Amino acid sequence: MKSEKIEPKGCLKGEINVPGDKSISHRILMLASLAEGESTIQGLSRGQDVKHTMDILSSLGAQLSEIGSDDLHVQGGELKEPTRNLYVGNSGTSIRLISGMLAGLPFSTTLDGDKSIRKRPMGRIIEPLERMGVSIACLEATGMAPFRIDGGGLKGIEYQMEVPSAQVKGCLMFAALSAEGDTTIIEDTPTRAHTEELFEEVGLEIEIADSSITVKAGRPKPFIHEVKGDPSQAAFWVVGATILHGSEVSIKNIYRGQERTGFIDVLVRMGAKITHDPVTNDLQVSSSELVGTVVEETEIPGLIDEVPILAVAAACADGETHFKGLGELRVKESNRLETIVSEIGSMGMKAEISGDDLVVKGGKLTGGKVDSHGDHRIAMSCAIAALVSTSPTEIFGWEAVSTSYPDFIADLDALRK
Ligand code: S3P
Repeated sequence: MKSEKIEPKGCLKGEINVPGDKSISHRILMLASLAEGESTIQGLSRGQDVKHTMDILSSLGAQLSEIGSDDLHVQGGELKEPTRNLYVGNSGTSIRLISGMLAGLPFSTTLDGDKSIRKRPMGRIIEPLERMGVSIACLEATGMAPFRIDGGGLKGIEYQMEVPSAQVKGCLMFAALSAEGDTTIIEDTPTRAHTEELFEEVGLEIEIADSSITVKAGRPKPFIHEVKGDPSQAAFWVVGATILHGSEVSIKNIYRGQERTGFIDVLVRMGAKITHDPVTNDLQVSSSELVGTVVEETEIPGLIDEVPILAVAAACADGETHFKGLGELRVKESNRLETIVSEIGSMGMKAEISGDDLVVKGGKLTGGKVDSHGDHRIAMSCAIAALVSTSPTEIFGWEAVSTSYPDFIADLDALRK
């Protein structure tokens, strides 16, 4: 197990480009693999999660070739049965979205992942996909990976989402591309809309009404797409620059879309100084004092991945911050509701879980020894907390960070002054 030691010193200053948006990277690679012809993608996330999606698409027959340091060319077309099982590593987005795509293709595939993936709920995609007509066999435990998909023969359905999840919505939208008849997905609570935006961009037919999305079967057209910076990765520097006195950071070319930047609204409400340039999409952040706030359950889908780093901000704020309705955090890369409290808690954060709510009391962080629990966002949140702690912090299980942000330490070193 790799560990990383972080000393509390200095402030954050300068400009930074964060990795390409991870959610968009998975989806755009899948669309390029389905398109008949060559597509070009720029600015893709280079984390392990996206590498797993790339490997899977290669095993299905898409031809991926890197040109220069930034461009990836994808020759898509008819995908074929792979000769091996498909392995997603730690990536929930890969397994859920790719399952949707595979459900519509006329061959069998087996999907599996690491020990965290094997504990995450897959029934939420298996049940609606089976209603569309595919047969899915769980090979070890019901509703869990590994599972085999015997694809093809899908029919469009109307599906009311049971949990607000862009992964489930995206899964069904990819399946809908190969279904006979239209598929309508009804979501009462809006979630991130990357699949909708990208489907429209690559010429697929979708209709968006108040709370429903209807997808017609179809094939994407080849395209050129530039992936913008990932707001979830930017969030670490936004919070870091806010809580570390004397900081001033500019984060370049950030993606801003539905339900992706809710953390900025919460931080501004707490007193953070964040401005957004609508032309360049850069974020400017300078340090400021924070006060506690209430984060309502309806806000959670819009900041679902940013709760750990917001907990760090809350730990540095004056007063209490109350996060409501965090049940979904229990089924992320780790049980994040527990790991936020145990790990940032062991660095001095005072916090309590009550049902699915989390209450954080502002105070001093002391640093210490923490464990990522294999969760990249817990590791990076502890690293930012370490910057304002009174003693150094050692983060065990640091290798988890490579799933989404392999250059995190290089970027931290470049910003530290
Ligand atoms: C994602 C959606 C979110 C998020 C995950 C990426 C996506 O999951 O937590 O990191 O790319 O659609 P849920 O939609 O399942 O909450």
